[in-house]
Amino acid sequence: MIKITEYAHSQFEGKDYSDKILVDMTAGRGQDTLFLASIAKEVYAFDIQKEAIETTRRVLENHHIDNVVLINDDHSRIDHYLKNAIDGGIYNLGYLPQGDQKLRTKAETTIASLEKLFGLLAVGGLIVIVCYEKDDLKESQTLQTYLSKLPSRKFDVMKHLVLNKNLSPYLITISKLS
Ligand SMILES: C[S@@+](CC[C@H](N)C(=O)[O-])C[C@H]1O[C@@H](n2cnc3c(N)ncnc32)[C@H](O)[C@@H]1O
Repeated sequence: MIKITEYAHSQFEGKDYSDKILVDMTAGRGQDTLFLASIAKEVYAFDIQKEAIETTRRVLENHHIDNVVLINDDHSRIDHYLKNAIDGGIYNLGYLPQGDQKLRTKAETTIASLEKLFGLLAVGGLIVIVCYEKDDLKESQTLQTYLSKLPSRKFDVMKHLVLNKNLSPYLITISKLS
């Protein structure tokens, strides 16, 4: 069975990010941040939970990674921290694994952060979103409705899902065209 996080990471293959800035919009336990840090010049990683930021910090230290700025704040405030163009980012929606399930991403703040991220994203930039429809059908549907209305001259928006497994996690990729 395909592992959705590995599939998310594979979307960044085939492009050189070694002089680029990437963002992890939901740092969590640090696995996506670790991946992005391994391919990018610099990574900014957000999480609303201190526990997530501290776990991610430990993961990065254990791997001797020093090109990540950790930000304990809501990702919808990204414009307070980043002004330069970025080349891509990941969201892994939902709650902190083994954490408080009430402290989860919400469609409204995810969309607010995307609106800001689109302004910062370079042309050719890529955003990858891992969605867990089974956990939060409303978040998934609200996000899809919003993304399906993005202008196609500006963005390619794709949904990648496993057809033969009901309510399996799926991926959305957004590429900025102009
Ligand atoms: C599924 S986890 C992320 C997993 C993570 N990327 C990893 O590799 O372990 C989702 C995370 O999103 C965080 N989160 C929820 N709402 C957020 C928001 N508005 N801004 C930033 N982080 C948020 C949660 O605290 C949680 O740690």
